[in-house]
Amino acid sequence: MRAIITAVGHYVPENKLTNADLEKMVDTNDEWIVTRTGIRERRILDKDKGTSYMAVCAAEKALNQRGMSADELDLIIVATVTPDMMFPTTAALVQEALAANNCWGYDLSGGCTGFVCALSTASQFIESGRHKKVMVIGADKMSAITNYQDRNTCILFGDAAGAVILEATDDPDLGVKDFILRVDGFGKKYLYMKAGGSLKPATHQTVENEEHYLYQDGKPVFKQAINGMATTSATLLERNNLSSHDLRLLVPHQANLRIIDAVGKKLKLNPEQVAINIDRYGNTTAATIPLALSEYYQQGDLKIGDWILFTAFGAGFTWGSLLMRWALNGSASD
Ligand code: UT7
Repeated sequence: MRAIITAVGHYVPENKLTNADLEKMVDTNDEWIVTRTGIRERRILDKDKGTSYMAVCAAEKALNQRGMSADELDLIIVATVTPDMMFPTTAALVQEALAANNCWGYDLSGGCTGFVCALSTASQFIESGRHKKVMVIGADKMSAITNYQDRNTCILFGDAAGAVILEATDDPDLGVKDFILRVDGFGKKYLYMKAGGSLKPATHQTVENEEHYLYQDGKPVFKQAINGMATTSATLLERNNLSSHDLRLLVPHQANLRIIDAVGKKLKLNPEQVAINIDRYGNTTAATIPLALSEYYQQGDLKIGDWILFTAFGAGFTWGSLLMRWALNGSASD
């Protein structure tokens, strides 16, 4: 039994935060942001909505595309670092909103690698024969944990969600083929939220110290990201007897255009083999990969049998890659 993607949808909020807007908020400029990151604008969700809102919108699009009732789902996995609340899970909120009445679900906190982690675990539920239909969502409202007075981070992040439906197939030539995932707590000090967890619960002081925002020391993350994504991707290709020519599309986590370009170069890929939309959305953490995949599918750029490689790097550190063969023809309208 193999796991194939049978539908993919995404949601981005309408409200745009441009580089020109940020120039008015912190000491930065469009030229610095574009040359150092490749980002031109990001989407920002309304203050009174949480991550589950975007997750539900993306999931509904995937269900509609497939013509599937939410009742048919066995499992919902939501990859996120910005759950609506500490508990219950965002998956529970999504289940209720979709009226998916025959499933279980959980959240997966894997930082920017969260969607790849969720896809790998979902595929194994299907390969085992235990489940037939799994909704895998990557969704983050990064604006909720971004300090818009910190120019090091506020230029980077945005809000979005992407969702795929994974189903079982007997066709041995399609679907999730292989993956490599890694975690190393060595990276914990470079990208994290200093307070609000059980180690340092929220107090007036932690709020005053602005410790409930995302903190990042970008340089070490940058270096490790290129190495982690390129190495796991190259190993996956090699051990599956594929060359860079065989790959239709690399869908990398969108954190920095310079990282994406460096990974593409290391893998000897042409520009048209690399999915890029960071210019329009910035870093949406767990949502970047399904969002980019959904856009490429909508454009009609993918066909049955195409080799696709997902790769990501994020807080933890967590990183890894997943190789699959595309199982859908044509395109989908939004
Ligand atoms: O998604 C999870 C994984 N995250 C990543 O993969 C992100 C990895 N890191 C990065 O993408 C990059 O490190 C950043 C984009 C975050 C930063 O780029 P950088 O080239 O590493 O710049 P830097 O932090 O070394 O800063 C260079 C200079 C500094 O000035 P000095 O100290 O050289 O005088 C910064 O203060 O640029 C300054 N700077 C800015 N200038 C204008 C930092 N942020 C800004 C800004 N506008 N927004």
